[in-house]
Amino acid sequence: MRSRVAGTGSYLPSQVLTNHELARRVDTSDAWIRSRTGIRERRIAAPAESTSDLALHAARAALDAAGVAAQDVDLIIVATTTPDMVFPSTACLLQAKLGARGGPAFDVQAVCSGFVYALTVADRMIAGGLARNALVVGAEIYSRILDWNDRGTCVLFGDGAGAVVLLPSTTPGIVSAHLHADGRYADVLCVPGTLSEGQVAGSPFVRMDGGAVFKFAVTVLAEVAGEALAAARLTAADIHWLVPHQANIRIIEATAKRLGVPMERVVTTVERHANTSAASIPLALDEAARDGRLETGQRVLLLGVGGGFTWGAVLLQW
Ligand code: ACO
Repeated sequence: MRSRVAGTGSYLPSQVLTNHELARRVDTSDAWIRSRTGIRERRIAAPAESTSDLALHAARAALDAAGVAAQDVDLIIVATTTPDMVFPSTACLLQAKLGARGGPAFDVQAVCSGFVYALTVADRMIAGGLARNALVVGAEIYSRILDWNDRGTCVLFGDGAGAVVLLPSTTPGIVSAHLHADGRYADVLCVPGTLSEGQVAGSPFVRMDGGAVFKFAVTVLAEVAGEALAAARLTAADIHWLVPHQANIRIIEATAKRLGVPMERVVTTVERHANTSAASIPLALDEAARDGRLETGQRVLLLGVGGGFTWGAVLLQW
């Protein structure tokens, strides 16, 4: 038994924050942000919105597309770095909001690689007979873990959610998965805080060595893409769509160039969404699925990289 993507969905909060508006708050400019990152604007969650609310909107859209009723959802995995609370998991909160019950529900924490990690676990659980179907969500509210006075990080991120529904299939929709981590690089990109004795111990804000992240991301994304292609005995020419993590257009372009995939076959949303961490791949996937770019039978390569460091690839047959 294998699994396939039966439906996709996504959600963006209504508030748009443009580079021009950001430039009124911190010492930056639209020209600097666009030339260094490709980002023009990002979405910001409303104060009353939680990560599980964003996840709920995306999940409902994916379930509709798959023709699965909310109460019939079995496994739920939410990839997030910005959960509603320390516990219960955002997946359990989402399950209750959907009106589902009884199936397994848990969060995956692999930062910006979270969605490819979660998709891999869900696929293997369906293949192993541990789940009848799966709802896999990437949902983030990064705006709440940014230091809005730090121009080096606050311009890069946004809020949003994306989801897919996996159903059992006799033909492989998820062809292969390749996941990696190297914890030696934990300091390069982190939120080095925790809760202790009723207070935040350490910092609750994103801290990043941008140059190191850039170099690492380009190297491992190309490497893991090569690994996925080799395992499937394919070349880059056989990939119809590349859906990489949306951190920075320069990282995406450098990766595509290394692989020899033209930008016309790369799905990008970073210009409008900025970096939504675990939500960025399913947001991009949903956009390309809904506007008709992804056609049945095409090969789609998802590439994730993020804090940890973590990285991975999932090859899909659409
Ligand atoms: N506006 C204006 N100036 C800025 C800003 C800003 N928002 N941020 C930094 N600068 C300044 C710096 O202070 C520096 O000034 P100085 O030369 O006077 O010291 C100058 O711009 C150049 O800074 P660099 O860090 O060299 O700029 P660079 O071209 O490397 O771009 C960036 C920085 C965009 C962060 C880049 O390194 C990058 O994209 N790194 C990848 C980071 C990333 O994508 N992180 C997302 C999370 S990771 C993930 O999702 C995998």
